Amino acid sequence: MTVGPSRDASTRPVAGRTAYLILHNTSEVATMDAAGERLLRFPRGAVVFQDGRVLEVGNAGDLSRRHADARPLNANGHLVTPGLVDCHTHMIFAGQRSAEFQRRLAGDGYASIAAAGGGIRSTVAATDREKDDALERNLATRLERWRANGCTSVEVKSGYGLTPSGEMRLLDLMRGATQRVPTRVHRTALLLHALPDEYRGRRREYVDEMCSHVLPEIRRRDLASAVDVFCDPVAFEVEECRRVLTRAVELGLSIKLHADQFERTGGAQLAAELGAQSADHLESAIEEDWRALAEAGVVGVLLPAAALTLGQRLPEARWLRKSGARWAVATDFNPGTAPAQSLLECAALAARLCGFNAEETLSAITWNAARALGAEHDVGHLTPGAWGDAVVWECESLEELPYWMPAVRPDCVFMRGADLALPTVERRVWP
Ligand code: NIG
Ligand code: FE
Repeated sequence: MTVGPSRDASTRPVAGRTAYLILHNTSEVATMDAAGERLLRFPRGAVVFQDGRVLEVGNAGDLSRRHADARPLNANGHLVTPGLVDCHTHMIFAGQRSAEFQRRLAGDGYASIAAAGGGIRSTVAATDREKDDALERNLATRLERWRANGCTSVEVKSGYGLTPSGEMRLLDLMRGATQRVPTRVHRTALLLHALPDEYRGRRREYVDEMCSHVLPEIRRRDLASAVDVFCDPVAFEVEECRRVLTRAVELGLSIKLHADQFERTGGAQLAAELGAQSADHLESAIEEDWRALAEAGVVGVLLPAAALTLGQRLPEARWLRKSGARWAVATDFNPGTAPAQSLLECAALAARLCGFNAEETLSAITWNAARALGAEHDVGHLTPGAWGDAVVWECESLEELPYWMPAVRPDCVFMRGADLALPTVERRVWP
């Protein structure tokens, strides 16, 4: 298989013994194949890591004989899967919006709360007031919490800065936080999230500024590998999104969209037209949209925590299967619509709400999620050549992953073939 270099994930070595080891005495190793087409299950299987990558996966007896010099690591009869990939989060922000959640439960709408100064803008104000160091430290803490929950690759969006300088600030801090933790971080610039107060009545100028100044600057300073927009009546129109995304593509950046969340306005169709990596949310998308995504090879990303928080429906599995599209599940972690900290918990919810089987659940949070980040050559599976990012779970079978609630916890999490100590997240004060 071809192993391409990872575009955004850091390539520096991580602490730990990474050289040559064999993870054995598993109940099973379960992974999608390198093409993301088929589930591979190796009962009592083993994985050999060398120099941070997977060298071989398969039958334990055979691998132990042929890799007698590898350092043995005991999985204690537990399930091993690839490290999980959370392909959609907004985890750089300050404050929280539990009061707004109560207002919504009492009947207020997302749009009316936003119009009254709540919503995204209230998080923007709290983030603006927060010190740089605190934002960077909190993001690093969150990334560690994600790793403790089994996520070895995490996408992080900016989006709570809004003004050009506010967004640049968050992208800089994201880069700083990434250097503090071993997790692979994919940085996305969420550029059209909400119109900042400073640009009230000057929408056109705002979009122009993003195209002519912000995007080239992001490219020049390598601040993000992808660009996202919120394409929705409460945010930005299809044409505005098209301009920013087209400019991003011209500059060689990957693109993705928050599409058809509150209303079906053409976001998924735009994602298909422009060849986005993913179209996310899609609560209001119809079959035709999923077919367009399938034809264009765009991953549809489902965000069950946001759908549940906002009282929206998710599509049914049989419907998605018929479309032929790939779908992923992500947390959408943000203070407004998805205060969800465990990707596996979100996947367990999606399995129930949509009807996904264990194989679909695994691929939605590994291979398909990696594909939504353009990282499927390197992560999201445990086949030869992929990074040795793996999880030993506190359970024995793949079917248990979507089954238990609260979600199964990792025993240990490998990054680049190294078993790094997990942070003691349970004793940390939220957030
Ligand atoms: O993905 N939909 C747009 N953005 C976020 C919510 C942001 C917020 O309410 O703070 C989302 O759901
Ligand atoms: Fe989102």
